[in-house]
Amino acid sequence: MGLFTRKKKDNAPENRPVPRHIAVIMDGNGRWAKKRGLPRKAGHKVGAETFRTIATYCKDIGVQYFTVYAFSTENWKRPQDEVDALMNLFRSYLKEAAETMFERGVAVRVLGDLTVLPEDIRAQIAEVDEIADRLGPDAATASLCINYGGRDEIKNAVRAIAQQVKAGELAPEDITEDTITANLYTAHMPDPDLIIRPSGEIRTSNFLLWQSAYSEYYFTDVLWPDFKTTDLDAAIDNFNNRNRRFGGV
Ligand code: IPE
Ligand code: IPE
Ligand code: MG
Repeated sequence: MGLFTRKKKDNAPENRPVPRHIAVIMDGNGRWAKKRGLPRKAGHKVGAETFRTIATYCKDIGVQYFTVYAFSTENWKRPQDEVDALMNLFRSYLKEAAETMFERGVAVRVLGDLTVLPEDIRAQIAEVDEIADRLGPDAATASLCINYGGRDEIKNAVRAIAQQVKAGELAPEDITEDTITANLYTAHMPDPDLIIRPSGEIRTSNFLLWQSAYSEYYFTDVLWPDFKTTDLDAAIDNFNNRNRRFGGV
């Protein structure tokens, strides 16, 4: 170290303000594989590693919540061999990812309707939860949405609330927006500030419908397996230059 320490640039990644909650629609795995003459499942495998890299980076730069769309309620429509490949990927990946992310101080969570997943994967998700619990409630969190659908989530919330009304625990006039928020899979986290969709598609595909009311969207043509920390930096810089009005002036 010399006499003078270099003053860090204001826009250096470690000095920028960052969104509290970033969500990603992890898209483009299949096209990434096809471009290389590989089976689609090879793209999912590389995409799973991208999740680990970006989730760790989010923690390092101070993003408290990182949430990704990994398997939608509509993805069951895919050919059986691709669905099987994705389930096998979850099988070989979830607990191992939770353990490696634990070492880096990131709590991995799984969100969605897990009731219809194969029994062994559900058991693994229970272990993932236990590993995350050990980090305590303030840990940076990386959530994987599996068998997640925004409409399905809202339907399930409505059902849960209707049950409370039926049981006489809640009066219909006492149902507020917060009641609905509290019955979603994301009840314990703030709404996403920034939602990123790679791969060039410009739609939500049923992701975080309720929670995204005032999210900022960022679209890029980069395919998810190619997505780098510098792509996240670019999305954050773009986000930081926006004026969020939330309906005000
Ligand atoms: C996203 O990649 C991962 C899942 C939906 C499981 P895709 O599999 O949708 O990849 P593309 O869109 O076909 O390239
Ligand atoms: C959205 O991607 C779901 C996930 C990334 C898990 P899709 O590839 O399934 O979405 P569409 O079919 O292009 O809308
Ligand atoms: Mg896709």
